[in-house]
Amino acid sequence: KAGLEFFGAATDTPGFREREPYAASYPKYDAIFADPKEFGQTTPTNGQKWMFVEPQPGVFNFTEGEFVSKLAKKTGKILRCHALVWHSQLAPWVEETTWTPEELKAVIKRHIFGVAGHWKGQCAHWDVVNEALDEDGTYRKSVFYNVLGEEYIKLAFQWAAEADPTAKLYYNDYGIERPASVKTAGALRIVKLLKDAGIRIDGVGMQAHLHADNHPTMEDHVKTMTAYAEHVEEVAFTELDVRIKTGTPLNDTKLAWQKESYQFVSEACIRVPQCVGITIWDFYDPFSWIPHVFPDNGLALPWSEDFSKKPAYDGMIDIF
Ligand code: XIL
Repeated sequence: KAGLEFFGAATDTPGFREREPYAASYPKYDAIFADPKEFGQTTPTNGQKWMFVEPQPGVFNFTEGEFVSKLAKKTGKILRCHALVWHSQLAPWVEETTWTPEELKAVIKRHIFGVAGHWKGQCAHWDVVNEALDEDGTYRKSVFYNVLGEEYIKLAFQWAAEADPTAKLYYNDYGIERPASVKTAGALRIVKLLKDAGIRIDGVGMQAHLHADNHPTMEDHVKTMTAYAEHVEEVAFTELDVRIKTGTPLNDTKLAWQKESYQFVSEACIRVPQCVGITIWDFYDPFSWIPHVFPDNGLALPWSEDFSKKPAYDGMIDIF
């Protein structure tokens, strides 16, 4: 709607969703997920990550990821694929081994051809490199960076382009939604690194794990996306959720801040022609990752535990 290619929600294999068992709510959850009026796109929250798809060297397992890619096909949704090279949720063997640069290159290459090759032609986008930046905007000292330096980023994009030529290739990160952030500068550096080397990168993915009580303004989003769009053809909000502080009671103010944040993202994406879409990181609170990783934070998604919709839902509907 409104000039966007998609509005979608990430989802996961039953059993992998954050709070289990939730079997009683699955039929309701599945119906909302499938409804084309709600979501036209999806991303597997976990199933395509290294620890699941290549748990042992050269041994691939696509079961978890395929649950979501098949569901996308069945429900007619665009599939964003996530994530090829990431320091987190790696298979332990990648970090436990001492690699020479040549060995690690071969490991990354086999992984990218194995995984992007498996889903070839099905992924509208691939998050090729995820979270390569530290909080201060310098490169994160991952196993990839420690052994190969920034070259691993170039190689990853080159190999992804060869393995799945039709997928749009994205750099994806969090904390890159504000124009003056050091990480935004870092993301721009990565984009330029690739462009200067003549390597294809099509988009920047802003994860947008936002905070209701301190969220970017609409102008922040527009400025940031405009800066990326000088170098790449498209940008997207890839993992949107807006967490609320849960250590103190919920009130209308907190819900209003959250609604405003969801609205700013939506309005900004409409205003910036290069913004192709928005993905929320699941849609149903019990399946949100936020309370598990950030204590005293939660209620980050439009659908509450009882399946009632938060003000943020109607707020977005007003915009689209
Ligand atoms: C999260 C998932 O939602 C959780 O289920 C999992 O336990 C940890 O990862 N940035 C990303 C996502 O790129 O892959 C992360 O997803 C959230 C932060």
